[in-house]
Amino acid sequence: MSSDSYADRKVPHVGTYRRELPVSIQRLYENAIDWEHLPFLHRSSFARIECHDAGAWGFRARVWPHPYKENRGIVIELRLEPELRRWITTTLDGPGKGTEVWTHAFSISENATLVVVDFFVPGVEQGRRGELARFYTKLYSRLYDEDVRMMSERQLQLDLLDKQMHKKRASIVLGPLAEVRARVPFTLDCNGRTYRIVEHHGKLVAYATLCPHMLGSLAESEVCDGIVECPWHGYRYDILTGRCVSGAKLRLPAAPQVRIDEAANALVEFIPEP
Ligand code: FES
Ligand SMILES: [Fe+2]
Repeated sequence: MSSDSYADRKVPHVGTYRRELPVSIQRLYENAIDWEHLPFLHRSSFARIECHDAGAWGFRARVWPHPYKENRGIVIELRLEPELRRWITTTLDGPGKGTEVWTHAFSISENATLVVVDFFVPGVEQGRRGELARFYTKLYSRLYDEDVRMMSERQLQLDLLDKQMHKKRASIVLGPLAEVRARVPFTLDCNGRTYRIVEHHGKLVAYATLCPHMLGSLAESEVCDGIVECPWHGYRYDILTGRCVSGAKLRLPAAPQVRIDEAANALVEFIPEP
């Protein structure tokens, strides 16, 4: 991919999507090269992705739109050019081959960035450009709605982690065992972190709801056979050991112990890790 100006493109320009986003330009760069989230966070747009190569430069992958059909996969390449504050996505193979999407990002403040996204589609007649522009605008506004939720939540978690470094840890009494059993599953904030308490094979188990991959929240994910899946990139964790069972060398943050004090009317106590 050359890094010339999009004004020189031979491929017809069909439209532009502009949006001010409440996130930093760093979150956007990170999001642009994050190929793994496509079939999870954007599950209504993408069914599957198979990565061929990836790095700080971007990625090349075969991606299948939703709904899944084996022969609808397209090969795309995304190249990030931070020195030019932009990334370019090109369709290398499959339907729409030669299509280019150029995104320029302009930092407005620490937590606000303007994106200007230009769509170039080869062989498109003048009369169809408006229709294609509407298609891309609708698609990109949905993708950015989903991305903004993820990027904002991630920023919030990063800021919280910063503050937690200096926090004092205290234990919490959850209440009598019978009441706690009647309430599960529920989430609980303890020392600035969120944990989920569930009953698993008759035992009360607590696990941290912060995914160690990119800080996605596991608070809304159901536990299935002792495994919980993150909605952002689909990494799965064993709630008892915290180990990632998807192959990544990751572990959930340590969870407080759930201690049942039989002497004190079976009070359930939540004791943070030292
Ligand atoms: S944040 Fe990526 S899998 Fe959880
Ligand atoms: Fe995205």
